[in-house]
This record gives sequence, C-alpha cells and structure tokens, in this order.
Amino acid sequence: MKRIRICSASEIPGQGMKCYDTATGSKVLVVNSGDQFHAFQGLCPHQDVCLDEGFFDGSTLTCHQHLWQWDVKTGEALGLAEAPLERYEIEHVDGEIFVLQSSALRACELFKGISDAVIGRLDALARREEHGVAAALYDIGDPADDLYILESGRVEFEIGREDRTRMAGFMLRKGEMFGWAALLQDQPRRIARATCMEPSTFLRLKGEDVLKVLAEEPAAGFLVMRQLSTLITRHLRTQGGK
Ligand code: FES
Repeated sequence: MKRIRICSASEIPGQGMKCYDTATGSKVLVVNSGDQFHAFQGLCPHQDVCLDEGFFDGSTLTCHQHLWQWDVKTGEALGLAEAPLERYEIEHVDGEIFVLQSSALRACELFKGISDAVIGRLDALARREEHGVAAALYDIGDPADDLYILESGRVEFEIGREDRTRMAGFMLRKGEMFGWAALLQDQPRRIARATCMEPSTFLRLKGEDVLKVLAEEPAAGFLVMRQLSTLITRHLRTQGGK
C-alpha cells in the first residue's frame, strides 16, 4: 500500500474540490463534503476532463462536459454516468491529506478473491514500467510473453492483420489487464497493437511465471482461470482482441 501526500486540508474549502498531479503522473481529485474528505481519480472516466472543473453540491459530483454524475461517498455512477470513479482511501493527519493506493493487482478483476499471500507472490514478480505518449507496448505478431495491468494512464488497441487493422477500444481504469495471451496455450503471438495514449504506468508480469505460481496454488489457479474465461467471453461479445 503506497501512502502519497496530496495537499493541506486548508487548501480545499467546505463543499469544494481540487485536482492535484501526483509524482506518478496521475491526477487525484480531493473533495471536501464539509464533514469529510474524499479522494478519486482526477480525470472523468468519459473523456480527459479534470473533474474539479465540474460541480459538487455536497453529495453528488457532476462533470460539466456531458453531465455524468457520481456519489461522493462511494464514487458509484449516478444518472447518465456509464462508469464509476476510482476511489482512494484517505488519511487526514495533522492538517495534511494523504491517499493510500493499493497494488493494481488487488484492483484487477482477474485476481479477484485470491489470497493476500498469492497476491504478494505475484506482486514480487511484477515489474513496474512507465511509458510516454505514443509508446508502443507491443505490435501484431510480437511474442505474447507478458501480461500487463494498468496502474494509470490509457492504452489504445488495434486488432487485425498487419495490412488490415481496426480500433478495438480504450482502457480507462486502474487494474484493467491486457496481453492475456501470455496465459494461454498455443497463442505465442500478439493479435493486437497496444499504444499508450497518455503517460501510463503498468505492472508487467511474465506469463510463464504467473502460471508457475498458479500451478503451485491450485485454489487461486482455479479462480484466475475461471475469471480469465469470463473476461475473454465478455470481450469477444464486445470488441475483443486484447
Ligand atoms: S467528459 Fe465528463 S461526462 Fe463527458
């Protein structure tokens, strides 16, 4: 769990909110609801708009661009909003506001429900990487050795063959996983191109190392494989390719 100082509490008046850049390149929104501080991702999950440009009425956050709304206590989507806000645990100590950020592995749907001990083993195998705008993470035909878990930023995918590709959508939220071919049998090559659309950080794990841990931890292995098949099915139903 990382503890990051964000600001002094005095910078944010009651019923106010403000966006801050962190050292990792992500933005954090701090909201003062009068009796409590809350912290969320700084950018709207719809498009790259700072949420402190929007409105806050004491209980509901509203993005001014297309009026998506969220519950300030939970970050849950309200009204028109199609995605929740990522919410951070907060510490308010001696007039200073800190956020606590857990490993992206814990937020990853693939690893939902597995024990802290197994998460710890996987975390020890993960390399943290930062990439700038337009950095190519992999291309069609590259070896599919590693899987990636997004900590912050955004990645664009194109799928297809080298001469014919199409866009396959965006990833927006911490904990989303891609490059899952690294966990599959007989899928040695990428079928998609992955490019950073903004400065992004990832956890990167070697597929064969993850499989080795899961083979030694069969209960976790069963859960992960079940969740992987659910994720693949969902993406095949929509756009696929990651
Ligand atoms: S950019 Fe925020 S709702 Fe569209």
